Formats: sequence, structure tokens, C-alpha cells
Amino acid sequence: MKLYIGQEIEEEDDVYIDASSARSILACGKRGTGKSYTLGNVVEEIHTETNDVVPLVIDPMGIYWTMAEENDDQRDLLWDWGVTEQGFPVNLLVPGDPEDRYGDDIVREFRSRGIDLNPLLLNPSDMSPDGWCDLFDLNINKPMGITLYRAIRELNEDDTPFYLPDIINKVEMDGSSSDRTKEALLNRLEMARDWDIFAGEYQDVWTTFDENRINVLDVSVLDPGQYGLRNLVVDVLGKELFRQRQDARRREEMGLRVEIPKVWLFIDEAHNFVPSGSSSLAKDMLIRWVKEGRQPGLSIVVASQQPSAIDSEVLSQCDITLCHKITTKEDIRSLDKLSQDYMGSNLKTYVRQIDNVGEAVFVDDDEETVQMVKIRPRKSQHGGGEA
Ligand SMILES: Nc1ncnc2c1ncn2[C@@H]1O[C@H](COP(=O)(O)OP(=O)(O)O)[C@@H](O)[C@H]1O
Ligand SMILES: [Mg+2]
Repeated sequence: MKLYIGQEIEEEDDVYIDASSARSILACGKRGTGKSYTLGNVVEEIHTETNDVVPLVIDPMGIYWTMAEENDDQRDLLWDWGVTEQGFPVNLLVPGDPEDRYGDDIVREFRSRGIDLNPLLLNPSDMSPDGWCDLFDLNINKPMGITLYRAIRELNEDDTPFYLPDIINKVEMDGSSSDRTKEALLNRLEMARDWDIFAGEYQDVWTTFDENRINVLDVSVLDPGQYGLRNLVVDVLGKELFRQRQDARRREEMGLRVEIPKVWLFIDEAHNFVPSGSSSLAKDMLIRWVKEGRQPGLSIVVASQQPSAIDSEVLSQCDITLCHKITTKEDIRSLDKLSQDYMGSNLKTYVRQIDNVGEAVFVDDDEETVQMVKIRPRKSQHGGGEA
């Protein structure tokens, strides 16, 4: 499978990403240089070129639903390129209840534009005892952390799904914790109920995803922060997809029937999820995805305006870089880490040659190639414009 991304700037040869196996891609560049736009291009290509790979976009700005609309703003440009404008089928995943998050009129408007809306809820039993303690920032060696850890571990032993009321019950019944500890913990669990993010009955991720649509998870409605709900949702979802694909891969290798498709995960503003120099709820999961995702068929595209703000393990594991214009010293310096011997000269030498928005240096570690690329115009509407 080849993904068409644009043309070599001087020769005007068509440029493709080889996606016959799983890839890890970094799209970087300063603000307004075309990262999110390029990410959208890759989403379009994945949707168009395959039936057995599902695109999932983690959307921190709430802008990717516009992929349902045709790119009307750039008609002339599309004409020049011989590309036809097109809206794509979008499945918009909304944490919690869509009506509560957006309001009735917006939900109606989305639906009238042909967008499917589905609530995405997390299964409390998909989270580990450690994960629960991290979420409330509890030390597992201190009373509250000990109590919560024990409660989740005991609930886990039954091997059946459990829910928030079960956790609350377990904590209330705990005979070895003080009343004060229990009360403080119960307050947090009650707070978690108000987040409106946990399922009351088990929800398999694949009942909310649509294999035939572009799945966009709008996390803009959740609080950001490295220990906030955005990170939580990405962490829990990512772990579950990873686990399911690992099982599926085992079956594929044995020639058994597999129903879980491969996934391309797209994360815009990725420094919020894999920050350098600090931790976050989703960080370990995403590092694992980048490092070990190839085997189970899990690809990833991360976009960020600050490569220096992205964890260096992620940077070094990416096998493709699409680097748009970068000017700050610190970020140019972080490109040194991405430079490879086969490039001839340093990556920053190439980046300095970029003149326009939508141009990028395309580095492919598998092919050992570097090309200056003019990224093709989008078929669908890009939603990143400023008001
Ligand atoms: N390949 C391209 N072709 C045409 N226009 C582009 C291209 N890339 C970016 N643009 C224009 O630049 C604007 C900013 O791009 P965007 O991807 O939102 O920037 P950022 O790097 O901040 O994510 C877009 O709204 C679009 O108009
Ligand atoms: Mg952007």
C-alpha cells in the first residue's frame, strides 16, 4: 500500500509513503506550517487505500470532523493539482454523552452533515490498580493509594467487568483502612462519577468504532493536562487496542480468522501526550506503541510544533519524519537527534531550504531517503483555520 502525499519540489515526481507494513511518523514544524493539514492528508489516504486498516484521530482541538466536508476553500489549488474535492464518512467519538458535551443543536447539526456520533465510555475494569492510583495522583505506599490499589486488585480477581459503584462498595467495606482514608477516597471516586466518562456496562471499543469511517475522537471537550482526562482516555483506549491487536496477530500467524483490524493512530499536538522531561498518563502506552507496535500492525502519526517537547524515545523510534519549516534554535537543535548518516548533510540544512507553507522535508529511515516535498492539497476541508 502506498500513500500519496505530494510532489518532489524540483523534479515534481510523485512522492509516496510506503505503508505496506506499520509505520511511525513524526510531523513537525512551527505553527501554521501545515502539520495538521498534512496529518489530514495521511488520514485521507489510509481511508481511501485500504479496507483492513482503521484510522483513529486523537483530536485535541476538535477540528477533524470537518473531514466530512469537501475542501471548498482551495478549489483552484485542487484544480491545479488535478485532485478532486471530497468529503469523507466520519465517525465522531465523543467522551461521555454527546448531547451533554455539545448541546442538542450542535449534535443535530453534526448529524445533518452526515457525521455519525457515538459516545465513548471507559471500562473501569480495563484500568490497572496502578492506573487508578495514577489517575488520582495517589502514592501506592500511602494509606489512600494502598486502599484503592487493594480494592481494584480484589475486583480484578473475579475476571468479570466491574464499575464505579463496585469500586465505591469495595472501599466502603474495607476493614483495614481508617474511616478518614476511606472518606477521602470516596470523595475522589464520587468526583470521578461526575466526569461522565466511565461506562455503566461493558463497552467493547469496536462497538463504537466504525471500520468503514474515519474515526475521530474529540478530546477537546475534556480537561488537558498530563494527568487530565484527555490523557486518561488516550491511555485506556490505546492499551485496549494494543492488547486486542496482539491477540489478533497471534491468530493471524496461526492462520486463524481475525476480526480486529489494524489501526493507524493519529495524534495532533502530541507533546501533550508524550512530553519530554515529564510524565503523563498516556506516555508509557504511547512509547510502547511506537516501539513495539509494528509487529501487531499498529501505526502512529504524531504531530507537534515542538519536536524538542516530545519525548526523545518517541522521536528516535519514528521511522518517517515530515519536517515542515522550523526556526527556533531549540527545535532546530532537536532535529540533530533525527539526522542519520545516509542523509548526506544534517537535517537542519534541508529544513532551511523550505520556503513555503505546505512544504516539508520527507525522511524515510526504511528507504534511507530524504526528499523535499510539496504536500498535496486536501480533498476534505481542513479545520485548523483561525477565527
Ligand atoms: N499542503 C498544503 N497545501 C495548501 N495549503 C496548506 C498546506 N498545508 C497547510 N496549508 C495552509 O496552511 C494553514 C495552516 O496549516 P495547519 O496544518 O493548520 O498548520 P499547523 O502546522 O499549525 O498545524 C492551513 O489552514 C492551510 O490553509
Ligand atoms: Mg496544527
